[in-house]
Amino acid sequence: MHSTLQPIVILISGGGSNMAAIVRTAQKDAWGERLRAQVVAVVSNKPHAGGLRLARAQGIATEVLEHSAYANREIFDQALAAAIARYDQPQRPCLVVLAGFMRILTPGFVAEHAGRLLNIHPSLLPAFAGLHTHQRALDAGCKFAGATVHQVSAELDAGAILEQSVVPVLAMDTAETLAQRVLATEHQIYPRAIARWLAQRQAQAGESPIR
Ligand code: GAR
Repeated sequence: MHSTLQPIVILISGGGSNMAAIVRTAQKDAWGERLRAQVVAVVSNKPHAGGLRLARAQGIATEVLEHSAYANREIFDQALAAAIARYDQPQRPCLVVLAGFMRILTPGFVAEHAGRLLNIHPSLLPAFAGLHTHQRALDAGCKFAGATVHQVSAELDAGAILEQSVVPVLAMDTAETLAQRVLATEHQIYPRAIARWLAQRQAQAGESPIR
């Protein structure tokens, strides 16, 4: 790995379609050269997360930290932070991208990664933080649903908003059909928000693209 590349670690719990979209965009848009960044590892808290197979097929390092094997949330988060820190570069700690990572992180973990911890949530925040977002949007009679990329703060699903997508709710929608349409938009906005974060970091560091 080029020693100056910004390492990105993606955390997943499931299918990993957002992770796959980020990896695809990183390759297509040459993030290595243009943004001096590279997805270096995918970490899952579930051993059978489908996204692990996808990541391995791309030659990306994978790690599994099963949360149930740890005595409590603090100890799990310490192990998670240690796993991520192994990918830090000198002067360049990892950007940590939560992509369907279904664990609430401790304030200590959030503070340690402040400013470089991003999440995607399947609702138009600040509406519908938490779970079952699509059913709740349908029950509330919303005419629009969507997804939000945001910085992670100590409060659940409440950090600064970076990107949002909007999807009309259709008369025949179920939580499943709505989730599918929203997910397709997540694959657009998450890579875009990350690319913007990387470009800002590059500008702050006074760096130019490698080519
Ligand atoms: C996505 O819809 C994501 O927004 C959601 O889980 C799904 C993961 O899909 N995340 C949350 O609900 C976080 N609270 P993926 O594994 O195919 O990317």
